[in-house]
This record gives sequence, C-alpha cells and structure tokens, in this order.
Amino acid sequence: MAKDVIIACDFNSADELYAFLDKFKDEKPFLKVGMELFYAEGPQIVREIKRRGHKIFLDLKLHDIPNTVKKAMAVLSSLDVDICNLHAAGTKAMMEAALEGLTRPDGTRPLLIAVTQLTSTSQERMEEDLLIKEPLDKVVIHYAQNAKASGLDGVVCSPLEAGKVKDSCGESFLTVTPGVRFADGAVGDQVRVTTPAKARELGSDYIVVGRPVTQADDPVAAYRRCVKEFLGGEN
Ligand code: C5P
Repeated sequence: MAKDVIIACDFNSADELYAFLDKFKDEKPFLKVGMELFYAEGPQIVREIKRRGHKIFLDLKLHDIPNTVKKAMAVLSSLDVDICNLHAAGTKAMMEAALEGLTRPDGTRPLLIAVTQLTSTSQERMEEDLLIKEPLDKVVIHYAQNAKASGLDGVVCSPLEAGKVKDSCGESFLTVTPGVRFADGAVGDQVRVTTPAKARELGSDYIVVGRPVTQADDPVAAYRRCVKEFLGGEN
C-alpha cells in the first residue's frame, strides 16, 4: 500500500497557496484542501492544483441526507480528486450512497474515507451534547466498522487510534492521521501528537501535516524531513 505525507494547505487564498507551492521545484507533494480554501476559491482551485500535478485529498467532510451526499460526491468525483471524505455519523445508508455517487461510469473512483468522532469532541461533550454514552474509543471503532461495512476505504483518525482501527477493520483499511509534529517542533493547538516516525510505527498509511511544513522557515526542507522520517525509517 502506498504510504505518503499529505500537506494540509490551510491557506485562505489561492495566491497564498501558489506562493507556497512555487517553492517546490523537485517534488509534487500530496495536498489536502479543506473547507477554508475550497469555499474561498471554489472548484477552480482543485483544477489548478491537479493541473500542476499534485494529488488531492479534498477534506470537505460531507454530512447530509443520502441523496444529497450522493449527488455532491458525483460532482467531487468529476473534479478528479484522489481522496474525499464524509462523517460516518451520517449513517451507513449515507456512506453507501456517497460511494455510489463517487463511482464514475468506468468504475473508477477517488478513495473515500470517513471521519469518526472529531478529535475536538471529548467524552464529556459526546455524552452531554450528543447523548452518546459509550466510551469514545469504542464509538470511534464502531464508526470505523460502519465505514468498512459500507465499502469505504478507511478513516481519518489519530495516529494513536490507527492500530486499533487496523485490528478491527483489517490491515488494508486506510488510516489517515493528522496531529503530527516533529520531536523538536511546536505543538500549537494539537493536544495528542506523534512524530512522523512514531505515526509510521503505529500503522498510519497517510500522515496529514500542516503547520510544521507550511509555517516552517524552509517548507521544502521540513517536507523532506517529514517524508524521510515517515517513509525512510529514520527517527
Ligand atoms: O497544522 P496541523 O498539522 O495541525 O494541521 C492538521 C490538519 O488536519 C488541519 O487541516 C486540521 O483541520 C486537520 N485535522 C486535524 N484533526 C482531525 C481532523 C482533521 O487536525 N481530527
């Protein structure tokens, strides 16, 4: 299975993004485009990133009635992105519909992964706001199993949950994990973080790294360090 580093492009304009991408002369990193950039710039930003030769994880976290998600996924699929996502909380029916919408007439489709419980949701908030009384880690695994049963390819999760997800959903079920920091770097607002090397050890297939690369003095060097630590077996 292809493991890779995905850079979270949390910029609020195309100009900022292109200034960042222009620094990369020798490599074409896999990029994550989220709501901020997509809502600011529209689908054109995705077309331009594709034209420049990057793979794209379009992180829009869809969650609506099955028919609406199916039709929205068909639109995203025609943009030729590589990974899309949705909320597993939308139910298995929504996830199955999403997969249908995503599948092109020739049978190909982008990978589809699910958000289980957002890492910003604590046990307390889940119990009080959502009336879900089960332990958070059990809920995460249950949602991952629902995603697997619906035919999805994997989940977004913490690197610390990757092993458990693999144990319950199988080795080929993808784990895409944010919350990655260099051992000597700033943590910022992330709470539970791991290094690229540790994420590899824990079973992550793709690590999503934002500020440690985008805010670095030398983003290309930071990206290369990340790739080396994650893929190259360096600590
Ligand atoms: O800058 P940083 O490395 O913290 O960026 C992590 C990226 O992953 C951000 O785009 C953030 O929205 C996303 N993310 C996350 N935690 C999740 C899901 C997504 O940090 N549970």
